[in-house]
Amino acid sequence: MFSDLLIERLLKATSVVVLTGAGISAESGVPIFRGETGLWKKFRPEELANIDAFLRNPSLVWEWYNYRKDLIREVNPNPGHVALVALENKYPDFLLVTQNVDNLHRVAGSRNIRELHGNIMRNRCVDCNRQIDQSELTVPTGSAVPRCECGGLVRPDVVWFGEALPNKEIQDAFTAARSCDVFLVVGTSAVVHPAAQLPLEAKEYGAYVLEINVEPTVISNYVNESIFGKAGTILPALVKRLGL
Ligand code: OAD
Repeated sequence: MFSDLLIERLLKATSVVVLTGAGISAESGVPIFRGETGLWKKFRPEELANIDAFLRNPSLVWEWYNYRKDLIREVNPNPGHVALVALENKYPDFLLVTQNVDNLHRVAGSRNIRELHGNIMRNRCVDCNRQIDQSELTVPTGSAVPRCECGGLVRPDVVWFGEALPNKEIQDAFTAARSCDVFLVVGTSAVVHPAAQLPLEAKEYGAYVLEINVEPTVISNYVNESIFGKAGTILPALVKRLGL
């Protein structure tokens, strides 16, 4: 399943970067965004995942995020998430960059993570920008929308359409992509930028780029190697092949 070249590069590597997308959590039961079963087929991003929609109808947006939070609370990391922890333990220089907001990499035990699109379990005030943990959320009686102690509306601390990515996270991700030996891109359709640029940048700077996805994507022709199958099967097999 794995090419000799990939295994050789991984055995020699000291620095590895992994970019994950919704596909890595699919086997845990978290719906992906695109495709026939994707969330964006059922819900409209323009009504739910942007600041104007939130300010227009905060309770609708909170209803959608509470639905997703409840769903995520019920699920567990799968063998794909766990295999990435084993890779992190092997490589002295390892960065996990994720577009996922579902917190499952942290629950699995990954440590060096950059969450490019935020974390659904975190919140922040629209007015004073204070970060507010889930346990601190207060919802005024008769409302579905949590409020900050300053009186401002509280929103999920995730990146919505039209918003900039957190600066440090994206800078760190590009710096690591440009200097790593091997770059794994797992379970992403690779259509949302700037995250989708990372594997291409890594390749341009000399990394060996492996894609793992259940189907070909827009970057399949550009990476060094694609393996088509489930992340929850392929990643544990890769870790085993490396003797971890
Ligand atoms: P997508 O839903 O666009 O893509 C998920 C990818 O996972 C697809 O390419 C699937 O083929 C693949 N996939 C599904 N199951 C898999 C499995 N078991 N193993 C491996 N691959 C599998 O999700 P993302 O690429 O993560 O942004 O989407 C990127 C961003 O678009 C999200 O972070 C979100 C969304 O709008 C924001 O909310 C800002």
